[in-house]
Amino acid sequence: MLLWLLLLALGPAGVRPDWLSIDLQRYAYEGDRVVVRCSGEDNGKIRRLMYYKDGSRIATYSSASSYTISNARPSDSGSYYCKTDRQKFLFIDVTEESSSRRLTVQELFPAPSLTVSSLHPIEENSVTLSCDTRLPSDRSWTQLQYSLFRDGHTIKSQSSSNFWTLALWKEDSGNYWCEAMTASRSVSKRSRQSNIQVHRIPVSGALLETQPQGGQAVEGKMLVFVCSVAEGTGETTFSWHRADTGESLGSKSQRSRRSELEIPDVRESHAGGYYCTAENTHSPIRSEVLNITVKIPASHPVLTISAPEAQAFIGDTVELHCEDKRAHPPVLYSFYHNNVSLGNISVPSGGRASFSLSLTREHFGNYSCEADNGLGAQRSEEVALNVTDPPPKTRLVNGAHRCEGRVEVQQAGRWGTVCDDGWDMKDVAVVCRELGCGAAKHTPAGMLYPPMAEETQPVFIQVALCNGTEEALAECEQVETFDCEHDEDAGAVCEDV
Ligand SMILES: *[C@@H]1O[C@H](CO)[C@@H](O)[C@H](O)[C@H]1NC(C)=O
Ligand SMILES: *[C@@H]1O[C@H](CO)[C@@H](O)[C@H](O)[C@H]1NC(C)=O
Ligand SMILES: *[C@@H]1O[C@H](CO)[C@@H](O)[C@H](O)[C@H]1NC(C)=O
Ligand SMILES: *[C@@H]1O[C@H](CO)[C@@H](O)[C@H](O)[C@H]1NC(C)=O
Ligand SMILES: *[C@@H]1O[C@H](CO)[C@@H](O)[C@H](O)[C@H]1NC(C)=O
Ligand SMILES: *[C@@H]1O[C@H](CO)[C@@H](O)[C@H](O)[C@H]1NC(C)=O
Repeated sequence: MLLWLLLLALGPAGVRPDWLSIDLQRYAYEGDRVVVRCSGEDNGKIRRLMYYKDGSRIATYSSASSYTISNARPSDSGSYYCKTDRQKFLFIDVTEESSSRRLTVQELFPAPSLTVSSLHPIEENSVTLSCDTRLPSDRSWTQLQYSLFRDGHTIKSQSSSNFWTLALWKEDSGNYWCEAMTASRSVSKRSRQSNIQVHRIPVSGALLETQPQGGQAVEGKMLVFVCSVAEGTGETTFSWHRADTGESLGSKSQRSRRSELEIPDVRESHAGGYYCTAENTHSPIRSEVLNITVKIPASHPVLTISAPEAQAFIGDTVELHCEDKRAHPPVLYSFYHNNVSLGNISVPSGGRASFSLSLTREHFGNYSCEADNGLGAQRSEEVALNVTDPPPKTRLVNGAHRCEGRVEVQQAGRWGTVCDDGWDMKDVAVVCRELGCGAAKHTPAGMLYPPMAEETQPVFIQVALCNGTEEALAECEQVETFDCEHDEDAGAVCEDV
């Protein structure tokens, strides 16, 4: 017995197969943390601990320690065991070896496959892409994130959905692949590449239209040119041109089958033919020519009244003229007196309208006119017209006051005399009434009011045949002069002074 103990203590082969044990799970999944733990009966005796995999040393520790595979890979599968140098007695060490354990690291999920609904889609049509893989049933709770790439660029990153619906443009053609990755990023796998070629439909059926429709532009207003194509996909370059010179008004590139160009302030010079072009490949197409007509709205009509100094007399006839030289015909002109409509005149050729008025006292006031060609009525400035009683055509000269003297009458701006042939109280009554001088008093000779009329002054009336009720001498029947001289000139005296 003692001998046996001694042999055990001193003998070189004091190895005990079960002194060092190994603890290792049998199966793991990629990305798992796997711990290989070797321990002795008395870890304090461990001088050196070495871990082996498939016969190769993978780690060495100077004391008891476990070996950790933080992110397991299938390549970590293999047979693991440990060796240790154990202090046996004072300076005598023995080497112990554990049994070996096999670890199998399984794939968590296979590389995903990218499924594309069409590898030759038509531009703008939606394409669905899905990134498919599967998890083992005992790891079905693992969160996966999916990313989509094209030619090295990330198109969609880390979404929890493995499904994308995209409207692709021609520029989006290329090699696509997807990636599935665990939320902890411990395992990620890529699909194979799929080449997607997006097909562009060339433009056709270019059409130029306007707003307002039919190329009806109005000076000073906005005109919008609309260029559209019946078919075509992708980025299209639209441009607008004058048909006569080919001059470009502008161009726009957009992913649309329709584009607009605004002319904010139309001028008369914008009238003419226009066309637009559209291009999405290398062959531009052209629309038909659209004629633009520019209508000029009524603006600032001018009212004039045929009365010198805006002064007219009761009984006169005046003409009102309203003029809007530029307004696009036909123009409806309306005349107003103190904002009350007097009449409307439609002028097919535009230009100008005239309205005549036979004046009464009520026509005193302010006049204006309006021009309207359907593009907005415009009112002129107001023009005042003073309507007064006509100045007397009869006067008494050289008397003591205005109601007595030699009788003079005015014709065509000249003052002449009245012959006293048949001159009586009825005639004087009319003269006195006309002058507002009351009733007739005498029928004196004109000679009584010197000086006599000049030789050059005409005699206008030979005989006045008034019945006495006339308002003015001019209303009385008269006999044209044939032989009267100024020594026969008539005079008048009225009752008022
Ligand atoms: C456009 O105007 C031009 C001349 O002004 C005329 O010859 C042509 O017929 C017009 N085109 C259309 C479509 O009205
Ligand atoms: C007529 O109407 C305009 C505005 O509508 C006003 O400015 C003007 O004073 C009016 N004139 C008269 C005489 O009423
Ligand atoms: C002129 O036209 C206006 C509007 O159309 C109307 O109100 C007015 O009565 C017309 N004037 C006359 C004198 O007919
Ligand atoms: C005419 O217009 C003037 C100012 O524009 C105003 O002072 C005057 O009262 C108006 N006359 C009438 C009759 O409305
Ligand atoms: C109208 O004319 C008369 C006579 O000339 C003058 O006395 C009056 O002041 C004028 N009225 C206006 C509003 O101009
Ligand atoms: C007087 O003459 C005026 C104008 O000619 C006429 O209107 C009127 O009836 C006459 N009166 C008599 C009483 O003859």
